[in-house]
Amino acid sequence: MLNTTDVGTGVPILWIHGFPLSSRTFEAQQTIPGARHVMPDLPGFGRSEPPAGTVSIEEYARLVIGELDRRDIDQAVFAGLSMGGYVALAATKLAPERVKGLILIDTRETADDDKARAGRYETIEKVRGNGVDVVADSMLPKMLTAAAPAEMRERVRDIMTSSSVEGVTSALRAMAERADATAVLAGVTVPLLVIAGEHDAITPPADAERMAAAVAGAKLVIVPAAAHLSNVEKPEEVNAAIEEFVRGV
Ligand code: MLT
Repeated sequence: MLNTTDVGTGVPILWIHGFPLSSRTFEAQQTIPGARHVMPDLPGFGRSEPPAGTVSIEEYARLVIGELDRRDIDQAVFAGLSMGGYVALAATKLAPERVKGLILIDTRETADDDKARAGRYETIEKVRGNGVDVVADSMLPKMLTAAAPAEMRERVRDIMTSSSVEGVTSALRAMAERADATAVLAGVTVPLLVIAGEHDAITPPADAERMAAAVAGAKLVIVPAAAHLSNVEKPEEVNAAIEEFVRGV
């Protein structure tokens, strides 16, 4: 069972956070009207217990679908940011009947190449030796643009450093071993909204453009003056796009 925030009424949106973050990164999305926001913390992140054993992106997908089951929610819009997007696509493969619509934010459908995979295993060793600060230090500069206010940067750092070593290392392994979801994306028949920060260096806008082009009728929103956490840095633009999308599903 995951620690899950559940607020609002309307179309259920299952929000799946990125790495090494928590549901707190979606705080500014809780006010989107006309929706019930179900926001779990993945194992070892936020206030969820660390995982008991090895996890995979598919296992994360099963766990977040379990949060819908616990609430008797048959179908939801799955909104995944970065690693959460990998989970949303895995859920689409596992249980397409549960997916009413898909929102892919600052993410990609492709798997890691050998270099990226090797880098993840190196990071696992560093985190085991020196703690989660290693990841927070290396990722923070890519999460927000240089123009982001200092308190926003501090909040994102605090979210990252609140993650457990077990949560972070198991997620790194899960991401390294994740399957390519190109075929899953190509098979999507529900409404799709793809969002990316203009300056996202982790999953650049080219990834978003490719994903949107793969699905007929998909909507693409490139958020100006935002980096990887476009929903944190520019909540007004992102929330407006999501509110409009949700009205249409
Ligand atoms: C994330 O924000 O979830 C991660 O940067 C994704 C990744 O490392 O592939």
